[in-house]
Amino acid sequence: MRQYGLRGVGLGLFSLCVALALGPGTPEEIQMAGGGAQVEIETGPAKLVALTFDDGPRLSTTRRLLDGLELREVNATFFLVGQRIEGCEDLIEEMAEAGHQVGVHTFDHVMVTDLSREDFDLQVGKTRALLTDILGEGEFWLRPPYGIVDESVECWADGPLILWSVDPEDWKDRDTDRIVAAVLEHVQDGDIILMHDIYESSVDAALRIVDALTSQGYVFVTVEQLMDLRGVEPECGVCYRACPLPEGEP
Ligand code: NI
Repeated sequence: MRQYGLRGVGLGLFSLCVALALGPGTPEEIQMAGGGAQVEIETGPAKLVALTFDDGPRLSTTRRLLDGLELREVNATFFLVGQRIEGCEDLIEEMAEAGHQVGVHTFDHVMVTDLSREDFDLQVGKTRALLTDILGEGEFWLRPPYGIVDESVECWADGPLILWSVDPEDWKDRDTDRIVAAVLEHVQDGDIILMHDIYESSVDAALRIVDALTSQGYVFVTVEQLMDLRGVEPECGVCYRACPLPEGEP
């Protein structure tokens, strides 16, 4: 069991994405980092949301999630723990080939603010190197465990830092009904939802969330697609939690 007690500390320091509207109805072609797949999405009035999964991969649960997402033709973002990669190489390859975004969540699931520069490079760099071996060159954006960063981490990240705006705390009670309800109650256009693909209950909840929000007109995109569609340029060392449309846009 991992400790998440410090979740959310310091989130107020982080700025939201400044989102720019794209022309309504313009088909936008997106190149995926780490995946190479291309998708076409209608921009404009569609409500966008990014499902993100931390702490995997885990063969059984991640496989079931990938199958469920494929059935629904939905893409998500996976922030992987380096020490869990061995033995899951084929799964990760499939993940990227299906168009999902792949990022890093450190090698040992450690709090990055506790690390020396050398240890940070080991935790993040080693995981990126493993992903490069499997997927080829890619950016592999970082999600810091517990969502906690400081100025050093921002300097060292070598890419954007992806946080979240909706957290159903799916690790806590593993109660699928409660997790689904927590997300549906809070979700808004442009949100980044935090979940964990290592729990059966989270996989069940995620697929129910996809079905419910799809029927409400939401389109599921990767974090990279979300930023791209909202005209947000990913910057090194900057934290992103959501990409809502700016005030006044339809
Ligand atoms: Ni985590």
